[in-house]
Amino acid sequence: MTFPIHRPRRLRRSEALRGFVRETHLSTNGLVYPMFACPGNKVRTEISSMPGVHQQSPDQIVEECREVAGFGIPAVILFGLPERKDETGSESASAQGAVQRSIEAIRKAKLNLLVITDVCLCEYTSHGHCGVVEGGEILNDPSVALLANAALSHARAGADIVAPSDMMDGRVAAIRNKLDENNFQDVAILSYAAKYCSAFYGPFREAAQSAPQFGDRRSYQMDPGNALEAMREVLADIQEGADAVMVKPAGPYLDIVSRVKAETGYPVAAYQVSGEYAMICAAAERGWIEKERVMMESLLGIRRAGADFIVTYFATEAAKQL
Ligand code: PBG
Repeated sequence: MTFPIHRPRRLRRSEALRGFVRETHLSTNGLVYPMFACPGNKVRTEISSMPGVHQQSPDQIVEECREVAGFGIPAVILFGLPERKDETGSESASAQGAVQRSIEAIRKAKLNLLVITDVCLCEYTSHGHCGVVEGGEILNDPSVALLANAALSHARAGADIVAPSDMMDGRVAAIRNKLDENNFQDVAILSYAAKYCSAFYGPFREAAQSAPQFGDRRSYQMDPGNALEAMREVLADIQEGADAVMVKPAGPYLDIVSRVKAETGYPVAAYQVSGEYAMICAAAERGWIEKERVMMESLLGIRRAGADFIVTYFATEAAKQL
């Protein structure tokens, strides 16, 4: 036999050949678009570190949702900003809140769109932490009760899926019980199960005005060095009743995405977070990278690692390419 025996380049000679043997495909079906709902009417403010992403009042949210649905994107995830922040984030469970009103408006418009809601307190608390604070400590159990109330208010407004992102222990079970007690057995839980304490959330904290006013989130979000612990977190959430689990951020944690998919077989979401988005936008703005190609490659990588669906601020732009 003559060398080389294998010539992998044979199957790379044309787009038809490459397409024929391609293993991973991105599809609009697997995209989720994050949106920021704020109080008021006709409000639409761009977030400076996230070009193309806005804080919007419910009337504007519906308008953009119409476009999102038009692209064939199946789902949005809503984050909320309150009128007023307080110690316990009480507006998180208000029927009049920007998220709750946005869900109702989307339902009323009869858009073909799944509505996922982020369940957390950090956007609603004056101290910016994801739970109740006492003596500089973030308390677990009292926070869990408040999170369950917020999730219930989202279900009442018409959410299809609630997604707790707070990283308190036991919140999935508490939310499941609360929903079931109130006859929302069919509302699903997408748990941010492996959520790392990441510097990649920077721009989001401007978008959601949720930067912690003291300290950081290391006492509840995961240490970036841990993979085995991520599996324990994921399995615990599944045992507590999570229907799907999320890994966040996505790009720097693809090993976790891959492992969660392989070891649980559960539906896995990956969140390409604000910092990942902002870095690509900023480098492209400087002409250092080609935005569309880097965007699609970053999403393809997340998909290849095993994510069934991807939460990404690129969802609408990516849908245009697809
Ligand atoms: C709230 C929450 C955060 C993100 C999603 N939900 C921020 C945080 O934990 O500080 C980050 C999303 C992003 O960066 O795009 N708990």
